[in-house]
Amino acid sequence: MNITNDLICQNLSIRDGRLYMGEHDVMALARIYGTPLYVMDEDRIRDRCRTYLDAVREAFGTQGGVYYASKACSFKQIYRIMSDMGMGIDVVSPGEIATAVKAGFDMSKACYHSNNKTDEDIRYALSMGVGVLAVDSEDELRAISTIASDMGRVQDIYLRITPGIDPHTYSAVATGKVDSKFGSAIETGQAMAITSLALTLPSINLIGYHCHVGSQVFDSEVYLATAGVMLDFIKEVKDTLSYTISRLDLGGGYGVRYTSLDPSIDIRQNILKVATFIKDKVASLGIDMPAIYFEPGRSIVADSGLTLYTVGSLKRIPGYKNYVSVDGGMTDNPRYALYSSRYTLLNLSRLTQDRDMLCSVVGRCCESGDIIQPDVYMPSTTSRGDIVACLTTGAYNYSMASNYNRVARPPVVMLRGNEHYLAVKRESWDCLHDLDV
Ligand code: LLP
Repeated sequence: MNITNDLICQNLSIRDGRLYMGEHDVMALARIYGTPLYVMDEDRIRDRCRTYLDAVREAFGTQGGVYYASKACSFKQIYRIMSDMGMGIDVVSPGEIATAVKAGFDMSKACYHSNNKTDEDIRYALSMGVGVLAVDSEDELRAISTIASDMGRVQDIYLRITPGIDPHTYSAVATGKVDSKFGSAIETGQAMAITSLALTLPSINLIGYHCHVGSQVFDSEVYLATAGVMLDFIKEVKDTLSYTISRLDLGGGYGVRYTSLDPSIDIRQNILKVATFIKDKVASLGIDMPAIYFEPGRSIVADSGLTLYTVGSLKRIPGYKNYVSVDGGMTDNPRYALYSSRYTLLNLSRLTQDRDMLCSVVGRCCESGDIIQPDVYMPSTTSRGDIVACLTTGAYNYSMASNYNRVARPPVVMLRGNEHYLAVKRESWDCLHDLDV
């Protein structure tokens, strides 16, 4: 097994038998900051933003935009980077809004999602000047209208529409099917009904439709199918309600490489393909070209990140299994436990040695399901104190981390050129019991 196949992220290289991320010797970071440690490459994040922004500009001119779906990874420095890059953001909770506000993000460039915004959440979002609220249901539409009217405001909204598309990824992230908890379905007539209602409410300004069918999607046909359904619906709305929807947000979802078996997606080519399809379809339907938005999360941050662990105990159960335990686990990366997600793990202390031992890399929690990855090949010489890297952890790792077993969350160190800096501090035990009375 050639190790270079496992350098699945463009910013990784091996020099003198050591793993480098950008210009940084990764093992050195473990020594400086300790483990477990999230490492994120700011330069790579900026590259990914640029790729999206340039592609959307090339495809749609000024009639388009990109919102970073910050559920993938949310902390102040991420919002500062997005602001600097000229990205919009998607936020899904008052907590994400508060973090972005604290980072100085211009909230008029934010879109607020969630299938259950409480009245308090809505009031908070409006008072923070969130640009667009993506409305999930009629009930929520009425609540936003009432609150906006109380505040003497007219609020821009999207309606989240369920196009009835199955992206064929894992079920926990499929959101475009008719029976999804998100949005109003076209098929049931609810999408037309909520559109009609939105147009009657004086404190509501309907600026567009939003849809998001799933995550970790590699099949570009999924986006064409989604755009097709949405444009047909925009035409139907025009014919039925004499109203032209001027913006269409196709959500996020482009996949990333977790292992060498995953394909790599050319975002620019994909967006250009979507654009060609949309322009042809718009012309054949005889409708106005809507502005087109994308909302990527994973494909902006995932491959900028890796997690470093220190190996603790090793257990060989003759005839059965080998376990390599590390000092993190499902608390910093619950994705195998939740979705059986695949990952690539490398023993950085023995990068050039034969990987001749099949093992499960497991965490430190009191739970058998605390597995970072089963069936990994590591050198049989793997020992206590070795540093192991789990690749592609920039998305949905830090943001999904927990304190199960009162394990403190790792810090995030970011890399920029030749510098490294702490973007999130290591949680202390004080943080863990600060809220206890
Ligand atoms: N927009 C909306 C409305 C979404 O619900 C999502 C993801 C995105 C954009 C961004 O999708 P992305 O580009 O990141 O695929 N925790 C799961 C992923 C949940 C995704 C939820 N929604 C995981 O770890 O795989």
